[in-house]
Amino acid sequence: MSLFTAAVRPVLFRVGGGDAEAAHEWTLRRLAGLAPAARRALHRQNFVSAPRTVFGVRFPNAVGLAAGMDKNGVALPAWPALGFGFVEVGTVTAHAQPGNDRPRLFRLRASEAVINRMGFNNAGAAALAERLRDLGALPVPLGVSLGKSKVTPIEEAVQDYLASYELVRPFADYIAVNVSSPNTPGLRSLQDRAHLEGLLGALVGKVPVLVKIAPDLTEPAIAEVLQACADHGAAGVIATNTTLSRDGLAPADQHRAGEAGGLSGRPLTERAHKVVDFVHRETGGRLPIIGVGGILDPDDATRLIDAGADLVQLYTGFIYRGPGLVKAVARAIPGHD
Ligand SMILES: Cc1cc2nc3c(=O)[nH]c(=O)nc-3n(C[C@H](O)[C@H](O)[C@H](O)COP(=O)(O)O)c2cc1C
Repeated sequence: MSLFTAAVRPVLFRVGGGDAEAAHEWTLRRLAGLAPAARRALHRQNFVSAPRTVFGVRFPNAVGLAAGMDKNGVALPAWPALGFGFVEVGTVTAHAQPGNDRPRLFRLRASEAVINRMGFNNAGAAALAERLRDLGALPVPLGVSLGKSKVTPIEEAVQDYLASYELVRPFADYIAVNVSSPNTPGLRSLQDRAHLEGLLGALVGKVPVLVKIAPDLTEPAIAEVLQACADHGAAGVIATNTTLSRDGLAPADQHRAGEAGGLSGRPLTERAHKVVDFVHRETGGRLPIIGVGGILDPDDATRLIDAGADLVQLYTGFIYRGPGLVKAVARAIPGHD
């Protein structure tokens, strides 16, 4: 048992009377408030150098922070200090929006899982762009995840993504097109070939654009996404987002199975692995892959790399295993350069 799971996690899981989102906000505030000297000390302690160049971007190590943890980039300088080799902020939308009603984030401890139905609560793409302009250069590459505003009808989705894209593009090393969140009605239909072609046709340009896909797509549906990616010059795919499936929950968490939202963490590990493996085989290894879903130890990460991922990201593993996981995973994935 690590110091984190023995001593820090029990305290964190009690913040806000056990409300998971209160713990999340508390953590973000603490990280955002880290003094520069503390950040530098942490960086020296945690940062593993194992560089890889993927879609033309040099990543100092292969482990990224997955989208959704720091939607508005409030704690951006802290993540590299915890060892992350890249950070994906967002998902942001063209219009600032509050997201769904709380509670909307649930820990399923026995399953090392989380269910969330946040619904893209975010301060909007313009606020993020302003924050990124103020921050200046970061020590690691930055991805910005874009989604569709809730008020925008699906037929106008392209304009909505494009508005966000124009605002954040100058600051992003890559753009993630999130068409796979289960918490915005209709969003996942943008994974359909025709919709995706329209979206990629409008967005692919100066900055690498990656498509983030759902783990619940069938293999033929994934193959269509990959065809659209190839036709429009997408730089890669991010596999995967959270799942609507409730397979793999521990008996103690069954009472949560009916909670609406996307499931992440341990129950997603196998499915994410299968999707990465399929994408790699289907594209003959020619399309870069960021593997994400259920990485709770270094072995989960190396299995995704072995299946064809070039980089990995994590979110739920950070909640259950703490910052030590980042360094352990970074050490386990060799650099290329
Ligand atoms: C609370 C929460 C919020 C999330 N928000 C986003 C988001 O805004 N955009 C996105 O692309 N993915 C989002 N995700 C999905 C993660 O980026 C990741 O794809 C998924 O959780 C699987 O990885 P994990 O098992 O390591 O958590 C969110 C996940 C969680 C748990």
